[in-house]
Amino acid sequence: MRTATATAHPNIALCKYWGKRDRGRNLPTNGSLSLTLAPFQTTTTVRWGAPVDAATLDGRAASTDEARKMFALLDRMHPGRPPVAIDTANSFPTAAGLASSASGFAALVLAADAAAGGGRSLEELARLARVGSGSATRSLHGGWVEWPRGTDPEGRDSHGVPLAPAEHWDVRMVVAVVRAGRKETGSTEGMNHTVATSPFFPAWVDAAEADVPEARDAVRTRDLERLGAIMERSAMRMHGSMLGADPWLCYFAPGSLLALHAVRGLRRDGVGAWATMDAGPNVKVLCESNDAARVAAELSEAAERVEVLAPGGPAHVTVA
Ligand code: DP6
Repeated sequence: MRTATATAHPNIALCKYWGKRDRGRNLPTNGSLSLTLAPFQTTTTVRWGAPVDAATLDGRAASTDEARKMFALLDRMHPGRPPVAIDTANSFPTAAGLASSASGFAALVLAADAAAGGGRSLEELARLARVGSGSATRSLHGGWVEWPRGTDPEGRDSHGVPLAPAEHWDVRMVVAVVRAGRKETGSTEGMNHTVATSPFFPAWVDAAEADVPEARDAVRTRDLERLGAIMERSAMRMHGSMLGADPWLCYFAPGSLLALHAVRGLRRDGVGAWATMDAGPNVKVLCESNDAARVAAELSEAAERVEVLAPGGPAHVTVA
């Protein structure tokens, strides 16, 4: 019986992943680009060789669906594996609506590999994390990460690739936690519905693919104004593709619009701040580190709570 523990940070996409060309392998219709964010993190312990398969999440038994996804990934990593115990916990409130599946699957593949004896390359682990949840392939790496679309039908060329480490650029992502009025549609279901029913989807894919090289360049040259503009339009075009779905899909809550308008107001006042949103009502705002306090103060008028995140390091094994 071997035990290993790994941690990973969540990531927020600046250029979004929205649409699968292969659902089983989580192969995307377009490339994406993200920033891994600290201090939030998932810590996962895997015990290889337990009496039965068992999983806990934040101290409670994992739901059937959560457990099914985790053990399916372990079966893929090691067909004929022994029963395994998984204990996973997020340091951040799930109510923050941050991508816990990204940090979760990144930490899981790393801990499982170490517990099973190790030996897989980071690239292989990034491909496995992708199968757990697409965005997880970006959380294996720290800092600025690209996930290319790739062309291989089996997805060998579609996994997170590091662009620049966290230290490259000291920006902040200010998260405005907005109260949601109703239960959300999960990202998997939301993107599949958009692909299947939105006439805007092909236009989204073209625009998204064109954004990635531009964003990559803006990261390399540390051009926040350029990167912010690309990030904001990527989010709005993604949400536009959902509004065109049938029936329409919308993750905006009234508070989201208040926060988005606050961001535009900040820009009118000369503060460099740009917004993005994912499959939920929260608004995440990219800015320089020395503007973060001003941005947070402004957003706190529109939000229930505000969190300030900074670039974080790669996923790693803490106990093996
Ligand atoms: C809007 O990675 O959660 O956050 O691959 O189906 O698990 P699955 O989806 P997931 O989708 C993330 C969508 C997004 C944009 C992004 O993170 O790029």
